[in-house]
Amino acid sequence: MYKDIDFDRIDLTQAPPAEETARQYYYIGKIRNHIRELSEELSRPLTASVKTFGCQMNARDSEKLTGILEAAGYQIIESEEADVVIYNTCTVRDNANQRVYGRLGVLNGFKKKNPHMLIALCGCMMQEPSVIEKIKKSYSFVDLIFGTHNIFKFAELLYTRLESGDMVVDIWKDTDQIVEDLPVERKYSFKSGINIMFGCNNFCSYCIVPYVRGRERSREPEEILNEIRALAEDGVVEIMLLGQNVNSYGKNLEHPISFAQLLREVEKIPGIRRIRFMTSHPKDLSEELIQVMKESTKICRHLHLPLQSGSTRILKAMNRRYTKEQYLELALRIRKEIPDIAITTDIIVGFPGETPEDVDETIDVVRQVEFDNAFTFIYSKRTGTPAAAMENQVPEEIVKEGFDRLLSVVQETARKRAEVWGGQRAEVLVEEVNEHDASLMTGRMSNNMLVHFPGDASLIGKLVTVDLEECRGFYYMGHKI
Ligand code: SAH
Ligand code: SF4
Ligand code: F3S
Repeated sequence: MYKDIDFDRIDLTQAPPAEETARQYYYIGKIRNHIRELSEELSRPLTASVKTFGCQMNARDSEKLTGILEAAGYQIIESEEADVVIYNTCTVRDNANQRVYGRLGVLNGFKKKNPHMLIALCGCMMQEPSVIEKIKKSYSFVDLIFGTHNIFKFAELLYTRLESGDMVVDIWKDTDQIVEDLPVERKYSFKSGINIMFGCNNFCSYCIVPYVRGRERSREPEEILNEIRALAEDGVVEIMLLGQNVNSYGKNLEHPISFAQLLREVEKIPGIRRIRFMTSHPKDLSEELIQVMKESTKICRHLHLPLQSGSTRILKAMNRRYTKEQYLELALRIRKEIPDIAITTDIIVGFPGETPEDVDETIDVVRQVEFDNAFTFIYSKRTGTPAAAMENQVPEEIVKEGFDRLLSVVQETARKRAEVWGGQRAEVLVEEVNEHDASLMTGRMSNNMLVHFPGDASLIGKLVTVDLEECRGFYYMGHKI
């Protein structure tokens, strides 16, 4: 385990090892030496900051980057006025890209004040050749660029940059490697995400993820279970199993195993009190999974089941491989089998060729399923995806009209679902001090609903019972009993 390694005792006089984990430990040792000298010269510690854009998978990758930076001797800070700043980027919709470009200008200002500052970019956006070209041309002050497939090389790449002083760019097209046991620093002491698989094979026609994250690869169940056991021993009570399509987990392993079987094994691990997972593709959700969820005392009463559209015609063009009726049948069956479950979803408005009647179909599904929450997105054209080449792109005003209509129904059903909990008692995992009022604590129910109640920071990471008193739209105010 990386926790048992003394990075100052690695023999750095030898050539770097070929085995990947040992190799990265070696470079962590090298960076430690480098930083020690620089820190003495400057009479201050060296700092690093990691900023995440995008999804839970990126958030988990950022914890790995943070773990490596910390092992390498950097002091981790929130502020981006640091000696190393990493942006872990997302490219799922264009606005994610624009935010990165906007902030790079700000970073350049910091860099002018601190000659030792290094700016690194990684993540999904970097897998796009046009992005790399643009950065090389217009943002040449960036020091290090790497992608999603070689994130495990971070220590080696950072050391190369520190030694050479030149911009380092290393992007791989794909990988079949899964490198285990690199350092990782969790954002929360009591909960953690765990990758169970990487990449995606679904190629929904609007989506860039398969192009920037590569083909689907599952981790070995034993690696996953060992990681969770270690987390549990370290005080983690809630875990979130991560993958773009967890329902197809394990199918391509040498000894295939289903996602439901994996959940059964995770359930047995002592210390773990709550199990979550993201994301489920409706086409692969099995009856076995519904039964495992139903019987489980640890799997949370929450299922994120992206709909994308309620129109069978649009779903076909999206290559989602289910119809409106199949989605409805599945969602309503789950509601019947597990009545207290919260079902949330993702919806895209403005996919090429979508008409107001298609939006009506989507609204009809929202009304029938009564989603507990829905993330609604305006379609964003992603270069290289099949949908980007479709001719019937929808005019902005029509998209906006459909989006607003959908949003009001989504809010209406979400409010209705939330109100059901009024006057009940719920188990809440306390997560943090309330952002706006320090006398309140914020926690989550099993169904992912936020609850605020009077308390103090000593409750963080504990499961407490709260009387749910007042529903304020999408969250509750309550009192701990
Ligand atoms: N693997 C997950 C989704 C990952 S992306 C799944 O299949 O559900 C998260 C969400 O972003 C998607 O569910 C989709 O609603 C949205 N999204 C993806 N590509 C998009 C695009 N080009 N424009 C708008 N929204 C998009
Ligand atoms: Fe994208 Fe579809 Fe894969 Fe989800 S399942 S990541 S939406 S291609
Ligand atoms: Fe974005 Fe990459 Fe996740 S594109 S949504 S960060 S997989």
